[in-house]
Amino acid sequence: MSPLLDNKVAVITGAARGIGEAIARLFVENGALVVIGDLDPAAAERTAKEIDPDRVRGFGCDVADGDQVRALLGFAKQEFGGVDVMVNNAGITQDATLKRMTEDQFDQVIAVHLRGAWLGTRAAAETMRSQGRGGAIVNMSSISGKVGFFGQTNYSAAKAGVVGLTKAAAKELAKDGIRANAIQPGLIATDMTRAMPDHIWESKLAEIPMGRAGEPDEVAKVALFLVSDLSSYLTGTVLEVTGGRLM
Ligand code: NAI
Repeated sequence: MSPLLDNKVAVITGAARGIGEAIARLFVENGALVVIGDLDPAAAERTAKEIDPDRVRGFGCDVADGDQVRALLGFAKQEFGGVDVMVNNAGITQDATLKRMTEDQFDQVIAVHLRGAWLGTRAAAETMRSQGRGGAIVNMSSISGKVGFFGQTNYSAAKAGVVGLTKAAAKELAKDGIRANAIQPGLIATDMTRAMPDHIWESKLAEIPMGRAGEPDEVAKVALFLVSDLSSYLTGTVLEVTGGRLM
């Protein structure tokens, strides 16, 4: 049997570490060629080399900048001859209550998550359409976009927006054989969540029927499903990867 992503080219943003890195590793194990786009070019290249210097490349890219996102897709075409899979995963948090959140904190989070996912979806769609062999796009939302989290009016708004963007794009792109789906992870153990105070971590754990945080690899496996033929009849869906939290 051939690997699930046999020589497919995947671009993954924010993949120098965390969930994106786990996705890059799993895609390569399943036969893909991968370009890691990350704000930190040195980290992107380091991770690429660590995973597999022949099959992975790193590229510096701010996903909130349209020209840089186009350049990222152009780099993938130049290195590996095309783009079949796009995972818009890059993310930041700037948590604060409404009382304290600055306009800058709101704008930054919307820019990276919502504008970033939109720019990535648009650029990938353009490339995939021109190739005429379909494709698959996965946008990283969050359970925060489903239920709204205290102190995350910016992040919850952006992550809910990612769902709307994904569904609208799925409708537009279906005729070209391009599928678009979203993932809503719950509490996943990465640098982003390790920054949380202990009492908040514990209160989140208490909400999880499975009684533990998820590992980045457990989100990666769902991303693999969504970009492979295993999900050939799925588009515009949102898969929750939460251990049953806030179902
Ligand atoms: P992380 O903080 O470990 O990694 C994020 C990566 O994105 C870093 O390598 C960073 O350099 C990169 N990045 C940040 N801003 C960027 C920009 N403007 N352009 C390009 N790259 C940029 O985060 P983690 O936990 O791996 O999160 C990945 C995605 O999953 C994010 O979209 C996050 O919102 C989402 N998520 C994470 C959850 C968790 O519990 N860790 C839960 C739900 C969603």
